[in-house]
Amino acid sequence: MELKEAIEKRTSVRRFKSEPIPIDDLKEIISLAGKAPSINNSQSWKFLAIVNSELLEKMSQIVHKKIEQLFPVEEENADKKVVDTVDRYSTFFNEAPAVIAVLTKPYNAVADKISDENSLSAEELNKLRNYPDIQSVGAAVQNVLLAAVDKNLGACWLSGLMVAKDELEDLLSIEKPYSLFTCIAIGKPLGDVKPKEKKSLNEIFELID
Ligand SMILES: Cc1cc2nc3c(=O)[nH]c(=O)nc-3n(C[C@H](O)[C@H](O)[C@H](O)COP(=O)(O)O)c2cc1C
Repeated sequence: MELKEAIEKRTSVRRFKSEPIPIDDLKEIISLAGKAPSINNSQSWKFLAIVNSELLEKMSQIVHKKIEQLFPVEEENADKKVVDTVDRYSTFFNEAPAVIAVLTKPYNAVADKISDENSLSAEELNKLRNYPDIQSVGAAVQNVLLAAVDKNLGACWLSGLMVAKDELEDLLSIEKPYSLFTCIAIGKPLGDVKPKEKKSLNEIFELID
């Protein structure tokens, strides 16, 4: 598939066939994720491919419970519908044949080596640079989404589940220096998949000459 076609076909997929994804396909997708650019070529990422449905169900239940704690609403409350939507969009990944958990560890910027007492801490520098660590992982996640399309799979970026970051890290035995950054649900799409309407070029482009 041409890159342009993959970019145009990509859309978030939230309903999947139960068919497993061949492990070699998952490996190839992660290998392409690892080709993404990263600050200082730090590649401070790791990818766990979770294909155990019981574990995915456990993860989903953990997120569901956390959402109940964070947004306690009664059945008749007007906000209930909103919370149900948040819950659905944060927990549906238990129906996916695979979820990729993206882990990151803090990277050491070249500028961190400047041994001036007044120099910025690694955290301050990262903030000043507008979080290149986060920007880097975003590039890797996009590679996963596009590589999935290339394999006629569908995927969805999952930040909703991060409300239960600590609990999920415990369950997945993620240990320092790594931490859970985000997840991606992935599988064969169930039903029709139509990319969403996007803004026109005119709305998003301005030439500065
Ligand atoms: C950083 C990020 C986090 C997202 N988190 C979720 C999520 O938790 N649950 C979900 O269903 N979709 C999630 N999405 C998917 C967006 O809702 C989706 O990209 C958006 O609606 C545009 O639709 P499209 O991907 O089909 O173009 C996320 C997307 C991004 C970029």
